[in-house]
Amino acid sequence: MNGHLARRAFSGRRVLVGVCGGVAAYKAAEAVSALVQAGADVRVAMTPEATRFITPLTMEALSAQPVASDLFGGQRVQADGGEAHIALSDWPEAILVMPATANFIAKLAHGLADEMLSTTVLASSAPLLLAPAMHSRMWEQPATVDNVETVRGRGVAMVGPVSGRLASGDEGIGRLADLDEILRALRGVLGGERDMSGLAVVVSAGGTREPIDPVRYIGNRSSGMMGHALAAAAEARGARVTLVTTSAMPVPAGVEATRVDTAAEMAAAIGEHVQGADILVMAAAVADFRPRRRADRKLKKAEMSESLELERNDDILGSLGGAGRLVKVGFAAETHDVLDHAQEKLMAKGLDLIVANDVSDPSIGMGSADNAVSIIGRDGSREDLGRAPKMEIADHVLDAALGVLRASGRGERVS
Ligand code: CTP
Repeated sequence: MNGHLARRAFSGRRVLVGVCGGVAAYKAAEAVSALVQAGADVRVAMTPEATRFITPLTMEALSAQPVASDLFGGQRVQADGGEAHIALSDWPEAILVMPATANFIAKLAHGLADEMLSTTVLASSAPLLLAPAMHSRMWEQPATVDNVETVRGRGVAMVGPVSGRLASGDEGIGRLADLDEILRALRGVLGGERDMSGLAVVVSAGGTREPIDPVRYIGNRSSGMMGHALAAAAEARGARVTLVTTSAMPVPAGVEATRVDTAAEMAAAIGEHVQGADILVMAAAVADFRPRRRADRKLKKAEMSESLELERNDDILGSLGGAGRLVKVGFAAETHDVLDHAQEKLMAKGLDLIVANDVSDPSIGMGSADNAVSIIGRDGSREDLGRAPKMEIADHVLDAALGVLRASGRGERVS
C-alpha cells in the first residue's frame, strides 16, 4: 500500500496483530513493520506455536512493545493487578490474525481459549480480521469450511486465502493473501474516512498511443502515475472506481480497470463508464491526432513521409456535454502560460475543475513520483499545491471534486 494511503488509514490507530504457528508467520513481521511505519500503534500476541516460527523478540523490536505470548508466564498479572489478556483485549480498535491457521479458526468457532491469542480474542469485542493460510486440503476440509462459515456468520472478516504455491510445494488455494490486500482489508475493518462511499468515480490515466504501423506509434511521456494515484485514493475513500488506463503499472487493489491503447479506445471506454458516474477525472494525456491509416506491415523509411497523414481525435472531455450530475475534472499539462491555458481549457471543455501542472521541469510531473499543481475551479477558486507526492495531490483533487459535488446539490448521496 502506498505510504500516504497507509498513513491516512492507520496513523494513530490501535491494532493488535495476532500470529499463529504457520510458515507464513514471518509475513506478520512485515505487516507489523508496515503498520508501525504508517503510524499505527501496534501490539502483538502470539500463540506458543507461532513463537517456534518467529521469535517474540523480532515482533517486540518491530512493534517497540512487549509481546504477549505466554498466558501463564510473568506477564499474566499486570502491575495494576489486572490480567494481561483482559487488558490486551480491551485495547485494540481492530485485531488482525495472520496467518490464521485451521486450528485457530476451529478454536474461534468453538469459543476455545487455551493460550494467549485465543484467550485475548475471545475476551475482545474489537472487530476481527483473519488472514488464513494453510494447505488447500485443510482449507477445503468440511470441518474447516464449517468453522469458517460459523465465524463469518458472527461478523468476522476474512482476507484470502489465495491460490498459488503453498509451503509444501503444491499449488492450490491456501496461500496467505498479499500484504497489500491484508492492509486494505484491515483499513476496511478499522473504518475511517470513507467520504466517497456510494460514489462512482471514473479516472483515465496514461498517454494514449496511436499506431502508425505494427511497430511504431505516436505517444507522449505520461506515465499514468497521477491517474493510478487518483484511482487508489478514491478507492481508499470508499468510492467505486473505474480506471481507464494505457499504463502497465499495477492496478490499485479494489479498482476496476480497463486497459486501452488509443484515444478512440479510451473515448469508448470512458463513454461507457461515465453512465451513472458522479465524478470523471481525465488525468490521461490524450493524443489530439492519429495517423489517418494504420499500416498493417512495418513501413520502410521511404514510405513514412507519404503515409504519415494525421487526422483529429475526438475531444473526450469536450464532447461529454454538460447535463447530468457528472463532475468533470480535466488536467492541463503545460510548459508555458500554464494558468492561462488551463483556464481556457476549463471553459472550452465545460469542466468543473482543471488541474494545471507545469511540465517544463522534467524532475516533476510527467514520469515523476511528485507533482506540483494548481487546482482551478469554474467558480474562480484556485488552490496552489507545492511539490508533493502524487498520492497527496490526488487527495486534494478529490477534495475539490467532492466540494463541487456537494455545492451543486449533486452529492446528496455523499455522506
Ligand atoms: N482531453 C480529452 N480528449 C482529447 C484531448 C484531451 O478528453 N482528445 C482531456 C485530457 O485528458 C485533459 C484535458 O482534456 O484532461 C486537457 O488535455 P490537453 O491535452 O492539455 O488539451 P488539448 O485540448 O489537447 O489542448 P492542447 O493540446 O492544444 O494544449
